[in-house]
Amino acid sequence: MRLDHLCVNHFREPLGYDLQAPSFSWIVLESISERQAWARLQVFRDVDCIYDTGESSVLDSLGTELPLELAPRTRYRWRVTVRGDGGDRGEAESFFETGKMGEVWKGRWISPGEARNAVLEKRFTLGETPDSARIYITGVGFYRLFLNGKPASDEVLTPGLNAYDRWMQVQTFEVGHLLQKDENLIEIWLGGGISRGRFSYTEADGYEYCPYDCAIAELRVLSAAGEETVIATDDSWRWHTSPIVESSIYDGEIWDPGRETESGAVRLCQPPVGSLRDRLSPPVKAVMERNPLCLLHTPRGETVLDMGQNMVGWIRFRVDAPKGRTLRLQFGEQLENGCFSRANLRTAKAAFTWRSDGVSRIAEPFFTWYGFRYVLLEGFDDPVDVADFTSCVVCSQLEETGSITTGHEGLNKLIQNVLWSQRGNFLDVPTDCPQRDEREGWTGDAQVFADTACYNMDCAAFFTKYMADMGEEQQKADGCVPYVVPFARNRSRGFEGGAVGWGDAAAVIPWTLWLHYGDKALLKRQLPSMRAWMEWVAARKDWATACRHFGDWLALDRQEEPGERVGKTDVGFLCLCYAFYSAALTAQAAQVLGEEGLSRRAQALADGYRDKLRREYFDPAGELICRTQTACVLALHLGLSPEPAQTGRQLCALVDEAGHLTTGFLGTPWLLAELPQKEAYELLLREEYPSWLYEVKLGATTIWERWNSLTEDGCFSETGMNSLNHYAYGSVAAWLYRHMCGVQPLAEAPGFRIFRWEPKPDERIGFALCRLRSPLGEIRSEWRYEEKGLSMLLAVPFGSEVRAALPDGRKAVLGPGEHRFLLRV
Ligand code: BGC
Repeated sequence: MRLDHLCVNHFREPLGYDLQAPSFSWIVLESISERQAWARLQVFRDVDCIYDTGESSVLDSLGTELPLELAPRTRYRWRVTVRGDGGDRGEAESFFETGKMGEVWKGRWISPGEARNAVLEKRFTLGETPDSARIYITGVGFYRLFLNGKPASDEVLTPGLNAYDRWMQVQTFEVGHLLQKDENLIEIWLGGGISRGRFSYTEADGYEYCPYDCAIAELRVLSAAGEETVIATDDSWRWHTSPIVESSIYDGEIWDPGRETESGAVRLCQPPVGSLRDRLSPPVKAVMERNPLCLLHTPRGETVLDMGQNMVGWIRFRVDAPKGRTLRLQFGEQLENGCFSRANLRTAKAAFTWRSDGVSRIAEPFFTWYGFRYVLLEGFDDPVDVADFTSCVVCSQLEETGSITTGHEGLNKLIQNVLWSQRGNFLDVPTDCPQRDEREGWTGDAQVFADTACYNMDCAAFFTKYMADMGEEQQKADGCVPYVVPFARNRSRGFEGGAVGWGDAAAVIPWTLWLHYGDKALLKRQLPSMRAWMEWVAARKDWATACRHFGDWLALDRQEEPGERVGKTDVGFLCLCYAFYSAALTAQAAQVLGEEGLSRRAQALADGYRDKLRREYFDPAGELICRTQTACVLALHLGLSPEPAQTGRQLCALVDEAGHLTTGFLGTPWLLAELPQKEAYELLLREEYPSWLYEVKLGATTIWERWNSLTEDGCFSETGMNSLNHYAYGSVAAWLYRHMCGVQPLAEAPGFRIFRWEPKPDERIGFALCRLRSPLGEIRSEWRYEEKGLSMLLAVPFGSEVRAALPDGRKAVLGPGEHRFLLRV
């Protein structure tokens, strides 16, 4: 038996993360046993065991919370021992280290005052080479930390994007190896990020969180003899200008390394931000580097790099230009008529400008990112050497846990495109899009995509941070959920939120995490937010008119009003569906957590919504009077239809009548699941507009915002708002995992402790192979049409149990191990 994936709060060896309620998890591999007979957790501080569960049959490998009293800035070791029911045994160790845990800071907030994008610096000496050192640091907006000229970490866009007015995330870095005896230099580069500058609807020189840049840090250096030296930010620090002349998330950056530097003494300050807390965000890094596919010379005479893939991040390139030359890169997603286009970026300039000082160097932006496939080069020597350019794919570093390969090329491309859209938009916040003047954590998009996201990647920690922010934002508005989280637009617009299907992210995402990861600690953290949202909705007399709604956003069933983006499904109907859904999920979550009173209240609300919906939206013959595909899909999926068979027929008739899907953001994720298998595959495999494969046919490498973001000629459609990297419609991937490959987590034993296996094979696809690194280990589901018949395989990990339903009607309960079937076709 081997134990792997030892995590605390879903992080391996976390350093300085929020560990107030530590939850321990592990995966058992290579065991002769089927399940855990007992496990034991021990936690050590130095050599002292501070907690020992003893051998216990109830410790849950998906998440066991221990009531530890932890000290700040302290490293703990932990050991897990597991004995299997077959008699084998495994043991493994890991560690975690606490951050400042709210202790008083020695460092003070310091700022370069009016100077923007400046560098804060401090020179100091050390009597000897340090044994170890940690730095605790955060900044408003973004910062990059260098020690003796070297980056303190490979993380970028620190401290992340969150509700700064409520809390600031503190990072902890291990930096001993960067320090030396005698002279040392610490530098903190600052940029506006989402705090200051143009973000959301703010004017160019406006700000959302703080009008000036600032940082706070505490470097603690330990000598071999155990003596501690603390270098903290204070008024002895200096600032100087950096080469960054302008930095903006939407517009990009301008660098001028040869410009005259100014410098001065820093000011102590008290930025209008929330409390300093240990971080929750998984690190954002350049997780991949790619070379350009080719260099293009367009009919307009432009020189354009084609990366061959729509991606998010930036370009790192070699500068070797004479002094005074300006080099400029502009980023775009599409060529129109063979020429570079940025027609879909709205006001975002998305550029990187470098004014050469004649020194040859490697250049890359610091505090921005771009969504691009094509890069227009200006000012570079001719011929351009493609080898001088590398693209850095920047996103939250999450383990990619799921993959599907089929015998259908178009489908494989679609699956890859979904993954690329997730990589591109899971950048600390689940953003709607990465390229235009938006890039915000739209709650509706995140909610409809969450299930797919959790199959594709381990999103437990990523969503934990997003949901923590959502809870913070709700406290500003009586439980109401803003349209975007963090709500970095409060200064300019006032609070905006409450939209149906968007605000419901508060209930849907925690429940999705529970289904996929089975960690009660996550659910417990979010229950107050679920409840607050449910109560906010319950307190509206008429939710449908209480705020701005986005309806079934971008649905195609309102063609007679081309500018209308909310679709035809009645908003009142959507409100009842989602009020029911969120209340029902809250009832279940409360039940799991033993909150009986809340569970009863939530269930009563849910029942009330269901009854009202049936009274108001179904005629006496059981016909749904809101005649849209999305209305049928929601009524069926949520179990709200009094006559499901009839609603199912209604849905098929509507699809037939249109000849294709017409669903928007809210109907699309569940559409295929509510259609009979044959009809579902017809929509999935359709290549004409509108469909998923239409965009694949047109060469898409990510998921588009609209079904017709591009027209057949490869140009942006006239609808406006055409992101080519918008994951919402990529939610179809959940259907591929759940139904095509048949792997579905079950609420009765989440985290794949018990799961359903009910694949729906289709001969046109030939085969489907799904691998999923579930929290219990790898699940493999495979079906393949062969001469001898349909062969199927399921590999079940240790500790898991399966309810299998085969296409020939056979049913079985399966345990860990490999199971093979051959079906006659
Ligand atoms: C975003 C969406 C979002 C929507 C709200 C758009 O501008 O890009 O994805 O959900 O607004 O309707």
